[in-house]
Amino acid sequence: MDKPIAFELHGPEFIPSQYDKHIVRRLSSMDGQYLDLETYQEMLTKDDLLLYEVYEIERPEVAGELLHGVSIVHPGKVGQEYFMTKGHFHAVLDTAEVYYCLKGQGLMVLETPEGEWAVEDLSPGRVLYVPPRWAHRSVNTANQGDLIIFFIYPGHSGHDYGTIEQQGFRKLVIDGAGQPTVIDNPRWKASGVNR
Ligand code: F6R
Ligand code: ZN
Repeated sequence: MDKPIAFELHGPEFIPSQYDKHIVRRLSSMDGQYLDLETYQEMLTKDDLLLYEVYEIERPEVAGELLHGVSIVHPGKVGQEYFMTKGHFHAVLDTAEVYYCLKGQGLMVLETPEGEWAVEDLSPGRVLYVPPRWAHRSVNTANQGDLIIFFIYPGHSGHDYGTIEQQGFRKLVIDGAGQPTVIDNPRWKASGVNR
């Protein structure tokens, strides 16, 4: 029988005192995702920068379990576009997620296969409920400082990264004269994968 798990999660770092997996995502894993392809390639030839990290508490990936952990998006930009997560639909589309922002300043970009979209503030103390069917991506809009989030989602959700890799998000967040600005993604195209 499983025993209860407890760990500490304190600032300023918010790295769980106990975790099973530490995932790091670098610039090279974001091929084709940033609008400014030229700057992306240029940056990549200099350094494969660390964009974000995830600390996961591992649980069986089955219904009834809750997967949880901490994601940390570092500050920075590719051209005018802020550092962000890859973003994904859940493979089981009808699964939700809760995000609780611990630190930093950012936005979550969301969309459904049906074409609805939303952009929500992420700031310390704010809880964001991602309903079933909504793809989600976290964007760090701060000039300095990490965007740190605690997340919880159903064990059987899985991740569909392919749809976003192919079609992108409908909306992008760029630095428009010092202000986070939401623009249409000119390269967005329907892949039809998860309809
Ligand atoms: C899990 C979830 C978050 C993200 C994390 C990294 O379903 O939404 O824990 O996994 O923010 O983003 P991705 O997974 O898009 O690279
Ligand atoms: Zn998710």
